[in-house]
Amino acid sequence: MKAPARFVVRGGRRLTGEVEISGAKNAVVAILPAALLCDEPCVIENVPDISDVTISVQILRELGAVVEQLGPHTYRIDPRPVNCTCVPYESARKMRASYYFMGALLGRCGLARVSMPGGCPLGGRPIDQHLKAFRKLGAECKIERGMVDLQAKPLKGNQIFFDVVTVGATMNAILAAVKAEGLTVIGNAAKEPHIVDLASFLNSMGADIIGAGTDTIKIRGVKFLRGTSYPVIPDQIEAGTYMVAAAATKGDVLIKNVTVKHLDSIISVLEKIGVNVEADEEHDQVRVYVDGPLVKASVRTRPHPGFPTDMQPQISTLLCLAAGTSMVKEEVSEQRFQYVDELRRMGADIQVDGKVAVIEGKGVLTGAPVKACDLRAGAALMIAGLAAGGVTYIEDIHHIERGYADMVGKLTALGACISKEAIPVENAQTLPPAVGEV
Ligand code: EPZ
Repeated sequence: MKAPARFVVRGGRRLTGEVEISGAKNAVVAILPAALLCDEPCVIENVPDISDVTISVQILRELGAVVEQLGPHTYRIDPRPVNCTCVPYESARKMRASYYFMGALLGRCGLARVSMPGGCPLGGRPIDQHLKAFRKLGAECKIERGMVDLQAKPLKGNQIFFDVVTVGATMNAILAAVKAEGLTVIGNAAKEPHIVDLASFLNSMGADIIGAGTDTIKIRGVKFLRGTSYPVIPDQIEAGTYMVAAAATKGDVLIKNVTVKHLDSIISVLEKIGVNVEADEEHDQVRVYVDGPLVKASVRTRPHPGFPTDMQPQISTLLCLAAGTSMVKEEVSEQRFQYVDELRRMGADIQVDGKVAVIEGKGVLTGAPVKACDLRAGAALMIAGLAAGGVTYIEDIHHIERGYADMVGKLTALGACISKEAIPVENAQTLPPAVGEV
């Protein structure tokens, strides 16, 4: 096993220059399993180089699909040889998105046996709404020894109304319904950009999905899905993370290859905090710079088009650098303030009470040894390290590498002083958990 590594960040340097955003993690982790529904080979482009993709490709190959990497960000998937409908615990537990193989395998052949997904410490990560959708389409669902057993012959379209707005269950319902007999109507659907991207990918193969991006999605089952070439959308959260990093270091950064309309809520909050954002929709880029003081703000996370929960740790870090008392309310994930203890080690003054964090902006942070407890917490600690005086050592960086392609390279190109190093033996704690999270 490789020696555990850490990021070493020497803070206090302004980020300046340009950064290219990669394909969206939360879209590609659904689109790769969706390729199983295709009746011919398909090509997926703009795939980010992140470990969740590596795991998804590994699972596709374990199922029998032929997956060829045609280029650094392009994969050709031929699902025709798939002869297995079981995703074992060893593979499924490495990332939460393994649950999309439930809907894809069920939609492909009416059978699926997938381990309960790994959960990230974001509080309870139930899948009751996923199972509700599958049952509504005629599937029998059993959970035994940590495995979800699904069987439906055939799947029949139906009305599905979610009790909560859920990204994962909305995606899984689409995957299971796209070849089911008849009409499926999904009510109270999530509206995130990655849901629209999954529907667009499937429609490019000949699926019949309308309303993705609204709270009502209609799917007419089809029998055949032809091959396609499809580029994944840019990552809204990666873009937002670099926007916040530019602001936290009082830098001036051009963030390229974005979908500007996916950033509306993030731009709105940054401007409220005193950050300048020049959005250039024609060239798919935004310029972020700071030429005055950062000011306190109240922020609350909401399902899209509200402020994304996946940006909450990052914006809370920025508010530590803004003068005054700010408030952040987490309305989506059940517990998403675990990173606060680590920020406190860097001098942050944050009080958490249930879903609300009250942040006393001190204007400065100091470098310290910290641990990433999940993907976006790790991104927040990276931003804190970039803005802090002194050196920050970030451990458990496997969380960060699940969702951010080449973060060290991209930040170095922007002028950051950052490196990835083996943890010296005398410092090594227990090895990071092998399992993943979200
Ligand atoms: C997806 O998680 C993303 N993960 C998360 O991104 C993101 O934070 C989240 O959506 C919200 O946008 C992937 O796409 C792989 P949910 P998911 O189902 O599907 C409750 C990141 O940082 N719920 O929208 O698990 C649930 O408890 C990761 O990139 C049920 O009650 O989120 C939560 O409170 C972190 N029953 C709320 O819904 C269910 O069956 C939203 O969860 C499912 C969810």
